[in-house]
Amino acid sequence: MPDPILQVKNLKTCFYLMEGVVPAVEDVSFDLYPRETLGLVGESGSGKSVTALSILRLVQDPPGKIVGGHVFFEGRDILTLPEKEVRKIRGNRISMIFQEPMTSLNPVLTIGDQVAEGIILHEGIRKSEGMEKAVEMLKKVEIPDAGRRMREYPHQLSGGMRQRVMIAIALAMRPDILIADEPTTALDVTIQAQILDLIATLKESLGMAVLLITHNLGIIAEVADRVVVMTEGKVVETADVYTLFERPQHPYTKRLLAACPRLGEPQRWGRKNRCSLK
Ligand SMILES: Nc1ncnc2c1ncn2[C@@H]1O[C@H](COP(=O)(O)OP(=O)(O)OP(=O)(O)O)[C@@H](O)[C@H]1O
Ligand SMILES: [Mg+2]
Repeated sequence: MPDPILQVKNLKTCFYLMEGVVPAVEDVSFDLYPRETLGLVGESGSGKSVTALSILRLVQDPPGKIVGGHVFFEGRDILTLPEKEVRKIRGNRISMIFQEPMTSLNPVLTIGDQVAEGIILHEGIRKSEGMEKAVEMLKKVEIPDAGRRMREYPHQLSGGMRQRVMIAIALAMRPDILIADEPTTALDVTIQAQILDLIATLKESLGMAVLLITHNLGIIAEVADRVVVMTEGKVVETADVYTLFERPQHPYTKRLLAACPRLGEPQRWGRKNRCSLK
């Protein structure tokens, strides 16, 4: 086994609300290895998104606060780095894509401007050059007629195309790690499959590690190498995908699998099953 590229150790993140303190993430530890796809699975509210946001120190503060743990990336703890250093990691080394592309895209900027923005900023190149690279990136995420799409606005694109744009933005800097938080939940099943294939292809060609967050065990079965199972802010099981589906250890994992009848029977789960827990 190579060294992990990212190590999350005893992460704890709370929300300080009028009603009291909500420990959204209580004790989360896992390792992410180079070039692997690690699935992070658990029911709604189990703390998956807060874990992802904590890794990049994007938890809204207040009311949220990371109160414990470490996130080691290349030997440094992201949680204790100066904000300036974290900004260099975000987008550049570790990128994130979210469930709902419409909320992350700027409605008044063209697709081209938004894809080019990060490239220009990070590479210190001229706008024309940034635009050329942006078209290349749109082609890479298989957006047809990329040149024309560059001049369009987010509302002119379908949900699937907008998610492709988000992926283009996230991958433009060729990050080492992609965190994808429910990247396909808002999309219909056919488009879901296309986007997952796209992420898998780009992962191979860029040599990235992917942390894939989903409540969909079918997606986990199809694309994950290893799986981390969370409930109530804690990790209860970590296993390679085959072991997890065939010999789940923790009662919560067993219940999770049983809730998906087709996947609950190990002989019948396969890389073409899809079953949602929501
Ligand atoms: N901004 C916030 N303010 C207060 N509480 C929050 C906030 N964000 C998350 N929480 C709480 O933290 C807990 C974990 O939420 P989180 O969004 O991480 O769940 P999740 O596993 O991603 O769920 P889902 O599958 O629905 O996306 C929940 O109890 C949620 O109510
Ligand atoms: Mg979430």
